Amino acid sequence: MIAPSILSADFARLADEISAVNGEPGKRADWLHVDVMDAHFVPNLTLGLPVVESILKATDIPVDCHLMIEDPDRWAVGYAEAGAYNVTVHVEAAKDPIAIAKDLRAAGAKAGLSIKPGTPLEPYLEVLKHYDTLLVMSVEPGFGGQKFMADVLDKARKARELVDTGHLKLVVEIDGGINADTIEQAAEAGVDCFVAGSAIYNADDPAKALEALRAKAAP
Ligand code: DX5
Ligand code: ZN
Repeated sequence: MIAPSILSADFARLADEISAVNGEPGKRADWLHVDVMDAHFVPNLTLGLPVVESILKATDIPVDCHLMIEDPDRWAVGYAEAGAYNVTVHVEAAKDPIAIAKDLRAAGAKAGLSIKPGTPLEPYLEVLKHYDTLLVMSVEPGFGGQKFMADVLDKARKARELVDTGHLKLVVEIDGGINADTIEQAAEAGVDCFVAGSAIYNADDPAKALEALRAKAAP
Protein backbone atom coordinates (compact mmCIF):
# COMPACT_ATOMS: atom_id res chain seq x y z
CA MET A 1 0.00 0.00 0.00
CA ILE A 2 1.11 3.55 -0.73
CA ALA A 3 0.04 6.42 1.53
CA PRO A 4 0.84 9.86 0.11
CA SER A 5 1.52 12.36 2.90
CA ILE A 6 -0.15 15.71 2.31
CA LEU A 7 2.51 17.37 4.48
CA SER A 8 4.37 18.13 1.23
CA ALA A 9 1.21 19.19 -0.66
CA ASP A 10 0.14 22.77 -1.35
CA PHE A 11 -2.28 23.39 1.53
CA ALA A 12 -4.03 26.20 -0.37
CA ARG A 13 -4.98 23.66 -3.08
CA LEU A 14 -5.58 20.70 -0.84
CA ALA A 15 -8.66 19.28 -2.63
CA ASP A 16 -6.80 19.30 -5.97
CA GLU A 17 -3.71 17.78 -4.38
CA ILE A 18 -5.82 14.96 -2.95
CA SER A 19 -7.55 14.43 -6.32
CA ALA A 20 -4.12 14.05 -7.90
CA VAL A 21 -3.63 10.75 -6.02
CA ASN A 22 -7.23 9.59 -6.42
CA GLY A 23 -7.07 8.10 -9.92
CA GLU A 24 -8.64 4.90 -11.21
CA PRO A 25 -8.00 1.67 -9.24
CA GLY A 26 -4.32 0.82 -9.46
CA LYS A 27 -3.40 4.50 -9.67
CA ARG A 28 -5.11 5.40 -6.45
CA ALA A 29 -3.54 6.06 -3.09
CA ASP A 30 -4.40 3.25 -0.68
CA TRP A 31 -4.39 5.54 2.34
CA LEU A 32 -4.11 9.32 2.55
CA HIS A 33 -1.57 10.15 5.26
CA VAL A 34 -2.36 13.27 7.29
CA ASP A 35 0.30 14.53 9.72
CA VAL A 36 -1.10 16.29 12.78
CA MET A 37 1.65 18.16 14.65
CA ASP A 38 1.17 20.33 17.73
CA ALA A 39 4.51 22.18 18.08
CA HIS A 40 5.00 20.39 21.44
CA PHE A 41 5.57 16.71 20.72
CA VAL A 42 7.45 17.80 17.59
CA PRO A 43 8.92 21.22 16.75
CA ASN A 44 6.42 21.90 13.95
CA LEU A 45 2.77 22.84 13.65
CA THR A 46 0.44 21.60 10.92
CA LEU A 47 -3.31 21.09 11.23
CA GLY A 48 -5.89 19.67 13.58
CA LEU A 49 -9.35 18.14 13.74
CA PRO A 50 -11.29 20.84 11.81
CA VAL A 51 -9.04 20.43 8.77
CA VAL A 52 -9.18 16.63 9.04
CA GLU A 53 -12.99 16.84 9.09
CA SER A 54 -12.89 18.85 5.85
CA ILE A 55 -10.46 16.37 4.26
CA LEU A 56 -12.77 13.50 5.22
CA LYS A 57 -15.63 15.23 3.40
CA ALA A 58 -13.46 15.83 0.33
CA THR A 59 -12.23 12.27 -0.33
CA ASP A 60 -13.17 8.58 -0.29
CA ILE A 61 -9.55 7.51 0.19
CA PRO A 62 -9.18 5.99 3.68
CA VAL A 63 -7.59 8.70 5.84
CA ASP A 64 -4.57 7.73 7.94
CA CYS A 65 -4.06 10.27 10.73
CA HIS A 66 -0.56 10.35 12.19
CA LEU A 67 -0.83 12.24 15.46
CA MET A 68 2.47 13.79 16.50
CA ILE A 69 0.90 15.43 19.53
CA GLU A 70 1.12 15.42 23.29
CA ASP A 71 -1.72 13.86 25.27
CA PRO A 72 -3.11 11.56 22.55
CA ASP A 73 -5.01 9.91 25.42
CA ARG A 74 -7.29 12.95 25.29
CA TRP A 75 -7.31 13.91 21.60
CA ALA A 76 -6.93 10.78 19.45
CA VAL A 77 -10.49 9.47 19.75
CA GLY A 78 -11.88 12.65 18.15
CA TYR A 79 -10.16 11.76 14.88
CA ALA A 80 -11.70 8.28 14.99
CA GLU A 81 -15.15 9.71 15.71
CA ALA A 82 -14.73 12.08 12.77
CA GLY A 83 -14.30 9.07 10.47
CA ALA A 84 -10.57 8.59 9.99
CA TYR A 85 -9.83 5.04 8.81
CA ASN A 86 -6.65 4.64 10.88
CA VAL A 87 -5.49 6.81 13.78
CA THR A 88 -1.88 6.48 14.88
CA VAL A 89 -0.50 7.79 18.17
CA HIS A 90 3.10 7.89 19.36
CA VAL A 91 4.04 5.46 22.09
CA GLU A 92 6.44 8.12 23.45
CA ALA A 93 3.47 10.46 24.05
CA ALA A 94 0.78 7.99 25.16
CA LYS A 95 0.14 7.54 28.89
CA ASP A 96 -2.12 4.51 28.46
CA PRO A 97 -1.67 3.14 24.93
CA ILE A 98 -3.93 0.13 25.51
CA ALA A 99 -6.82 2.38 26.59
CA ILE A 100 -6.24 4.57 23.52
CA ALA A 101 -6.40 1.55 21.21
CA LYS A 102 -9.66 0.43 22.81
CA ASP A 103 -11.15 3.93 22.43
CA LEU A 104 -10.09 4.15 18.78
CA ARG A 105 -11.54 0.76 17.92
CA ALA A 106 -14.77 1.48 19.82
CA ALA A 107 -15.10 4.63 17.70
CA GLY A 108 -14.78 2.53 14.55
CA ALA A 109 -11.19 3.24 13.52
CA LYS A 110 -8.12 1.10 13.16
CA ALA A 111 -5.64 1.79 15.96
CA GLY A 112 -2.05 2.64 15.08
CA LEU A 113 1.03 2.88 17.27
CA SER A 114 4.13 4.74 16.09
CA ILE A 115 7.70 4.48 17.32
CA LYS A 116 10.40 7.10 16.72
CA PRO A 117 13.74 5.96 15.25
CA GLY A 118 15.37 5.71 18.69
CA THR A 119 12.48 3.86 20.35
CA PRO A 120 12.91 0.08 20.62
CA LEU A 121 10.12 -2.31 19.62
CA GLU A 122 10.59 -5.03 22.25
CA PRO A 123 9.04 -3.24 25.28
CA TYR A 124 5.78 -2.75 23.37
CA LEU A 125 5.07 -6.22 22.03
CA GLU A 126 2.25 -6.85 24.51
CA VAL A 127 0.78 -3.39 23.86
CA LEU A 128 0.87 -4.06 20.11
CA LYS A 129 -1.56 -6.97 20.55
CA HIS A 130 -4.22 -4.25 20.94
CA TYR A 131 -3.22 -2.44 17.74
CA ASP A 132 -3.92 -2.81 14.02
CA THR A 133 -1.02 -0.78 12.64
CA LEU A 134 2.62 -0.28 13.62
CA LEU A 135 4.13 2.89 12.15
CA VAL A 136 7.92 2.67 12.12
CA MET A 137 9.41 6.16 11.80
CA SER A 138 12.40 6.24 9.46
CA VAL A 139 13.16 9.92 10.20
CA GLU A 140 12.80 12.00 13.35
CA PRO A 141 9.15 13.08 13.21
CA GLY A 142 8.38 16.71 12.45
CA PHE A 143 9.39 17.51 8.90
CA GLY A 144 9.13 16.17 5.37
CA GLY A 145 12.07 15.77 3.03
CA GLN A 146 14.53 14.21 5.49
CA LYS A 147 17.00 11.41 4.81
CA PHE A 148 15.86 7.80 5.24
CA MET A 149 17.35 6.04 8.31
CA ALA A 150 17.96 2.47 7.16
CA ASP A 151 18.79 1.34 10.74
CA VAL A 152 15.09 1.23 11.61
CA LEU A 153 14.52 -1.58 9.11
CA ASP A 154 15.54 -4.10 11.78
CA LYS A 155 12.40 -3.12 13.68
CA ALA A 156 10.27 -3.52 10.55
CA ARG A 157 11.83 -6.97 9.97
CA LYS A 158 11.13 -8.01 13.54
CA ALA A 159 7.52 -6.82 13.27
CA ARG A 160 7.10 -8.68 9.95
CA GLU A 161 8.37 -11.87 11.58
CA LEU A 162 5.96 -11.52 14.50
CA VAL A 163 3.07 -10.97 12.09
CA ASP A 164 4.05 -13.88 9.84
CA THR A 165 4.37 -16.25 12.80
CA GLY A 166 0.95 -15.20 14.08
CA HIS A 167 2.14 -13.46 17.24
CA LEU A 168 0.82 -10.08 16.11
CA LYS A 169 -1.79 -8.99 13.59
CA LEU A 170 -0.55 -5.66 12.25
CA VAL A 171 -0.13 -3.60 9.13
CA VAL A 172 3.56 -2.63 9.16
CA GLU A 173 3.85 0.95 7.93
CA ILE A 174 6.96 3.07 7.41
CA ASP A 175 7.20 6.87 7.33
CA GLY A 176 10.06 9.17 6.41
CA GLY A 177 12.47 9.43 3.50
CA ILE A 178 10.64 6.90 1.33
CA ASN A 179 11.39 7.49 -2.35
CA ALA A 180 12.29 5.53 -5.49
CA ASP A 181 15.77 4.83 -4.07
CA THR A 182 14.74 3.66 -0.59
CA ILE A 183 11.38 1.93 -1.02
CA GLU A 184 12.85 -1.38 -2.18
CA GLN A 185 14.86 -1.84 1.03
CA ALA A 186 11.74 -1.18 3.06
CA ALA A 187 9.73 -3.62 0.93
CA GLU A 188 12.42 -6.28 1.41
CA ALA A 189 12.19 -5.75 5.17
CA GLY A 190 8.52 -6.69 4.98
CA VAL A 191 6.79 -3.33 5.17
CA ASP A 192 3.13 -3.37 4.03
CA CYS A 193 2.40 0.35 3.77
CA PHE A 194 4.75 3.09 2.59
CA VAL A 195 4.17 6.75 3.46
CA ALA A 196 5.68 9.17 0.94
CA GLY A 197 5.40 12.94 1.12
CA SER A 198 8.06 14.80 -0.82
CA ALA A 199 8.62 11.87 -3.25
CA ILE A 200 5.01 12.26 -4.42
CA TYR A 201 4.06 15.88 -3.86
CA ASN A 202 7.33 17.47 -4.92
CA ALA A 203 7.18 15.50 -8.19
CA ASP A 204 5.91 17.20 -11.34
CA ASP A 205 3.26 14.50 -11.68
CA PRO A 206 2.19 13.10 -8.28
CA ALA A 207 0.09 10.34 -9.89
CA LYS A 208 3.09 9.09 -11.89
CA ALA A 209 5.34 9.26 -8.84
CA LEU A 210 2.80 7.20 -6.90
CA GLU A 211 2.67 4.57 -9.65
CA ALA A 212 6.47 4.40 -9.83
CA LEU A 213 6.73 3.85 -6.08
CA ARG A 214 4.09 1.13 -6.21
CA ALA A 215 5.95 -0.65 -9.01
CA LYS A 216 9.17 -0.62 -6.98
CA ALA A 217 7.49 -1.77 -3.76
CA ALA A 218 5.80 -4.77 -5.39
CA PRO A 219 7.62 -5.55 -8.62
C1 DX5 B 1 7.28 13.47 9.20
C2 DX5 B 1 5.94 12.96 8.75
C3 DX5 B 1 5.93 12.33 7.44
C4 DX5 B 1 6.37 13.19 6.28
C5 DX5 B 1 7.23 12.32 5.44
O1 DX5 B 1 7.30 13.62 10.56
O2 DX5 B 1 5.42 12.03 9.69
O3 DX5 B 1 4.66 11.73 7.14
O4 DX5 B 1 5.34 13.73 5.49
O5 DX5 B 1 7.79 13.09 4.45
P1 DX5 B 1 8.86 12.51 3.43
O6 DX5 B 1 8.17 11.39 2.70
O7 DX5 B 1 9.17 13.68 2.57
O8 DX5 B 1 10.01 12.04 4.23
ZN1 ZN C 1 3.62 10.93 9.07
